Amino acid sequence: MSAPMQFTYYGHSCFAVVVDGVRLLFDPFITGNPKAGHIDVNSIEADYILITHGHGDHLADAVSIATRTGATVISNYEIASWLANQGVSKTHGMNFGGSYALPFGRTKYVVAVHSSTLPDGSPGGNPGGFVVTSGTQTFYYAGDTALTYDMKLISDEFDLNFAVLPIGDTFTMGIADAVRAADFVGAKTVVGVHYDTFPPIAIDRDEAVTAFGARGVTLLLPAIGETVAL
Ligand code: NI
Ligand code: MN
Repeated sequence: MSAPMQFTYYGHSCFAVVVDGVRLLFDPFITGNPKAGHIDVNSIEADYILITHGHGDHLADAVSIATRTGATVISNYEIASWLANQGVSKTHGMNFGGSYALPFGRTKYVVAVHSSTLPDGSPGGNPGGFVVTSGTQTFYYAGDTALTYDMKLISDEFDLNFAVLPIGDTFTMGIADAVRAADFVGAKTVVGVHYDTFPPIAIDRDEAVTAFGARGVTLLLPAIGETVAL
């Protein structure tokens, strides 16, 4: 029986998960987030930084955090190469279906339906998501994506403790499709991300919690800076 995973939300789609003492940071976007002004980006530690796709709201703080912490950045091949050119010393590029060993287990880069142009207009490959597993503890982070039948492959292969899904609509799934995604991937606990940061992705939180609850899924919406055990 492993200790619970510690999940800390940093706003938008940025969060950290500590698995067996290893610190994973996802999609760092803090200094540009109008809702995350109380987060000290220089206090965030990471052993690995995982980036789902090339949009600025998922990697704007990646170079500075990777440089300060010495973390290894994991993303698709195009983004990993782009970050290496920006001065990140440790990168690992992947593509769909590939897995990469972590100290406690592995991560698999899986399909997302979205876009991925980098902030300077460079091609950012294809957007993805990650499944992270220690063998006994597993979670899925969808990145920015539409609902897709490919999500059913995740429940075929993995038994998830929780899923992190975008719920803000406009640029990703909205609430109704995210509820269906939770069913497709087989998650009974979902952390909602990619909402309320900007006006186009504002949601009604009560409506969201009720919609997931009606399908037997617990939706967690931690405060920015809050840590929950999952
Ligand atoms: Ni995006
Ligand atoms: Mn986004």
